[in-house]
Amino acid sequence: MAKAPETDARPGQHSGPRHVAIIMDGNGRWAQAKGRPRLFGHHAGARRVREVVEACPSLGVKYLTIFAFSTENWKRTQVEVAGLMSLFRRYIAKETRALAARDVRVRFIGDRVRLDRKLTDLMDRMELETAVNDGVNLTIALNYGGRDEVARATQRLAMDVAKGTLDPADIDEETLPKYLDTHVLPDPDLVIRTSGEARISNFLLWQSAYAEYEFIDTLWPDFTAEELGRLCASYGAKDRRFGAVKT
Ligand code: FPP
Repeated sequence: MAKAPETDARPGQHSGPRHVAIIMDGNGRWAQAKGRPRLFGHHAGARRVREVVEACPSLGVKYLTIFAFSTENWKRTQVEVAGLMSLFRRYIAKETRALAARDVRVRFIGDRVRLDRKLTDLMDRMELETAVNDGVNLTIALNYGGRDEVARATQRLAMDVAKGTLDPADIDEETLPKYLDTHVLPDPDLVIRTSGEARISNFLLWQSAYAEYEFIDTLWPDFTAEELGRLCASYGAKDRRFGAVKT
């Protein structure tokens, strides 16, 4: 029998979301509306992350996962991709100490193979320097795609089968997630996408099977802690049954 999803919630009875995942969309349009280049919007978007992380403890959000760069984002212009990579390097170098001081543990998910060494070194250092923290678990999805993650997980799983350490008959809904990038995280309870698009764009495909979705019009650089609070409260008012019948 399939295991009940690992969330804060019991069917029909829960409070706010323990794990919130966000597709931060709309930076480009936000900048263009101001007559500025798209990268101006990405910089404004990066500044929003701090406010949202800081709001988590008071909302009871223990896990926050944000989509910073997808496996499809390489198709953008070379100028935008290079600008985003430089922004990630600067963000990590600048924010590590501030996040550590706020008891935030940072993890990265996604395929690091295509990222440059300078960036992956900074990512390793950020993970290491925040590893002792236990307040908010911030996961940054960088060169992440849900299908890519499942394909990479399947490769690792097949290697264990080939080595003889995994019996194919034992592969079930509990085994496969152990090979995903998110293996130490609970599934998201609430997935938010900003900017008015109602798509999940290859984000946490396996993990979001039971998540609630909120598609909101706000462009990411305008998103506030207050809005996150409203969405968490609205999640808390929902009746989630995970396929069960209300008793
Ligand atoms: C989508 O907006 C946003 C991205 C592809 C990049 C997300 C990055 C950030 C919010 C900033 C950096 C984050 C960290 C953790 C440092 P878009 O460009 O697709 O907007 P559009 O749909 O209006 O064009």
